[in-house]
Amino acid sequence: MIDFSTHYLGLKLSGPIVVSSTPLSESLDNIRRMEDAGAAAVVLTSLFEEQLALESRALDEDLSRGTESFAESLDYLPAQSDYRVTQDVYLEHLQRAKDAVEIPILASLNGATTGGWIRFAKQIEDAGADAIELNTYALATDKRQTSVAIELQLLELVESVCQAVKLPVSVKLSQSFTSVASLVARLEEVGAKGVVLFNRFYQPDFDIETLEVRPTLHFSTPSELLPRLHWAAILYGHADIDLAVTGGVHTAEDVLKSIMAGASMTMMASALHIHGIEHIGRVLADMRYWLEKHEYQSLWETRGCLSRRSMPDVSPFDRGNYIKTLSSYSLRQTVAAF
Ligand SMILES: Cc1cc2nc3c(=O)[nH]c(=O)nc-3n(C[C@H](O)[C@H](O)[C@H](O)COP(=O)(O)O)c2cc1C
Repeated sequence: MIDFSTHYLGLKLSGPIVVSSTPLSESLDNIRRMEDAGAAAVVLTSLFEEQLALESRALDEDLSRGTESFAESLDYLPAQSDYRVTQDVYLEHLQRAKDAVEIPILASLNGATTGGWIRFAKQIEDAGADAIELNTYALATDKRQTSVAIELQLLELVESVCQAVKLPVSVKLSQSFTSVASLVARLEEVGAKGVVLFNRFYQPDFDIETLEVRPTLHFSTPSELLPRLHWAAILYGHADIDLAVTGGVHTAEDVLKSIMAGASMTMMASALHIHGIEHIGRVLADMRYWLEKHEYQSLWETRGCLSRRSMPDVSPFDRGNYIKTLSSYSLRQTVAAF
């Protein structure tokens, strides 16, 4: 029998598939089905900084602190009624989820700046969450804001959340940073125990008939996995921080590749929306088949075997890959032409 167990943020996980933050976990019945299907943990949907600031007196504090841009931003952000759940409902759901299943339940906070809203992290801790995933989705649209300032703001946010709780905190990162490796090392320094690679960007679509810009959400495809694999492979072993892969994990092969790159676990959202929660069980069965066929005893044995650190030739991870990829393509084209 293959041992699937793994570790993430100091938590022992029964396997490598965690349900990523998605509305599917808003139902207790679904959370039970996730556990039955073999999910090793569940990340709840996010509570948003903007929502928490609106909902609590933290808004007053934020405004008096002089964060005018934040105050202005509230004008075009969704109204309170547009958010899926209130903070009270969230905490109650978290407690119920903890009572309903044995697997770890991670709460998700979603924000970009420090402020009074961070106190909610403590309430999450008190409600019994096993860890906090901090989604730091932000778009740099202000031409006066430099990349250094953006990174410092992120580090300040992560540090504040880490200091507010004893729970392990992971950071769901965007891949659009100039130096991901340096940033991850500094995230570790300010207290993060894990990074989740990577946030998906949800660019709005343009309707040329109505001249409107509309939010769109498309489910992922496995092709989105490649940048995540690449960065997990580069980051593995470079910092003492756990790596999780989210984005394009659909099949057993996707999970295996992610672990081989160096991830501690993988997360699924789109695949479960497309194929149903029981898809987790099928992926685990496919993985078991593959690992047995290749005579592994445990999944952990495979961890990091395709990381940059384990490769005698690191060129596939660096500029060498770029050159080889472009050169091999033109060679193939030339051969085909003859
Ligand atoms: C319908 C839907 C809702 C989501 N809501 C959240 C959310 O509230 N917070 C968050 O951090 N990620 C959210 N995500 C992103 C997922 O957690 C995940 O990181 C992303 O979809 C990439 O994984 P996938 O390829 O398995 O879908 C959502 C994704 C979907 C499809």
